[in-house]
Amino acid sequence: MEVAVIGGGYVGLVQTAGLAHLGHRVRLADVDPARIARLEAGELPIFEPGLSELFERARQRKLLSFFDDNREAVKGAEVVFLTLPTPSNGDGSADTSVIFSVVEEIAPVLEPNTVVVTKSTVPVGTGRALEELVARINPRVHVASNPEFLSEGNAVDDFLRAERIVVGASDRTVAERVASLYEGLPARLVLTDPTSAELIKYGANAYLATRITFFNSLAELADRFGADIADVTAGIGLDRRIGPHFMRPGPGWGGSCFPKDTRALAHMARQVGYRFGLVEEAIESNRRHQELIVERCRELVGGSLDGLTVGLWGVAFKAGTDDTRESPALVIAQGLIAQGARVRAADPEATSDLVEMTPDPVAAAEGAAMVVVATEWPEFLRVDMGQVARVMAGDVVFDLRNLLDPEAVRKAGLRYVGRGRPSA
Ligand SMILES: NC(=O)c1ccc[n+]([C@@H]2O[C@H](COP(=O)([O-])OP(=O)(O)OC[C@H]3O[C@@H](n4cnc5c(N)ncnc54)[C@H](O)[C@@H]3O)[C@@H](O)[C@H]2O)c1
Repeated sequence: MEVAVIGGGYVGLVQTAGLAHLGHRVRLADVDPARIARLEAGELPIFEPGLSELFERARQRKLLSFFDDNREAVKGAEVVFLTLPTPSNGDGSADTSVIFSVVEEIAPVLEPNTVVVTKSTVPVGTGRALEELVARINPRVHVASNPEFLSEGNAVDDFLRAERIVVGASDRTVAERVASLYEGLPARLVLTDPTSAELIKYGANAYLATRITFFNSLAELADRFGADIADVTAGIGLDRRIGPHFMRPGPGWGGSCFPKDTRALAHMARQVGYRFGLVEEAIESNRRHQELIVERCRELVGGSLDGLTVGLWGVAFKAGTDDTRESPALVIAQGLIAQGARVRAADPEATSDLVEMTPDPVAAAEGAAMVVVATEWPEFLRVDMGQVARVMAGDVVFDLRNLLDPEAVRKAGLRYVGRGRPSA
């Protein structure tokens, strides 16, 4: 099929490469001409494991074309995917202005029977509003919702081994047409109305964020009681009703989705007269969790961070991505800086202007009172802790991800502090 994708970010690029992998011809548009120029030159503007290989194969099969003009890109497309940003407004609601302005821009030039599919995460009710907008501009065009569930760092696999594909449309045959694009994937299909499709996406993200918060709180308790969180979560996760995922303690959730999507869900719930207390508390609890981590850093260096250097391992919001949007590592860095610390960070793929960056984790630890492991990059497991100990001014390694081997850290003469790891 001839498909257009509008918005060449994390979601748009994966969608483009994935659909081309399935044999579709994809016309990708982005408002940023520099991004399009890089793509045309065969360069990917983001880091996502496996994505460049998928792009290269699609390029060799001549299935891709790139545009810095949305109207050009949609010419001849039977399905148009919107993979555009929906950031937070100041009040927590999602800003859908780009979605509406792009639909207004392209709707007049779409061929009859084209389906405009929202892949962006949009507030419940957006699909219906887009239907009304399109009906006014070009009534023979259809609208559908196809929320994205990829997780950065694993996005290619998430596409190729999708567990489910959700398509919401008022007209069942339209939903089936969109779903048919994914034929060949092992996913279970959920065909529904646009409103339910939109709520599925927010429900999934809010649940996952709440679950992480729950297990971070349990790790906090494990710390205080002297229990081992790894054993506790193993014991809980063996219950089939609960399952073993999303239980690892960490620096709190962040990234480009959970923070803005939980805020948006809480906001839209209030708009219909319901206070979604659990989600609101998860947001607040996640914030307190990160404050507690900064507080604990201060205690670990003897009561004051003022004038001290902290080595930060990781600025990406999780391993496997260069994305630092609302990264917990940077929230914590900000807290440390506010207390007078100087933060020097190393990350294999991501970078940030908030902190001083160095390519080498050992260099990040140089002269540091403590090292904070904020992102679970496997690269940090290969760092020579003896070398780290030699260059540090202090001796604390605060492992927010329970990533490192406590024994190896201790053997180097350093003090290991994990989360809910008493034996460590
Ligand atoms: N990143 C994820 O892990 C993820 C997962 C699921 C859902 N989502 C949702 O998908 C949507 C996109 O997220 P993302 O992370 O890919 O965002 P992104 O910021 O990485 O990409 C958005 C792209 O759209 C382009 N763009 C902006 N305005 C445009 C316009 N008028 N015309 C053409 N292009 C334009 C930008 O230049 C950018 O390249 C969001 O709604 C997000 O919530 C993201």
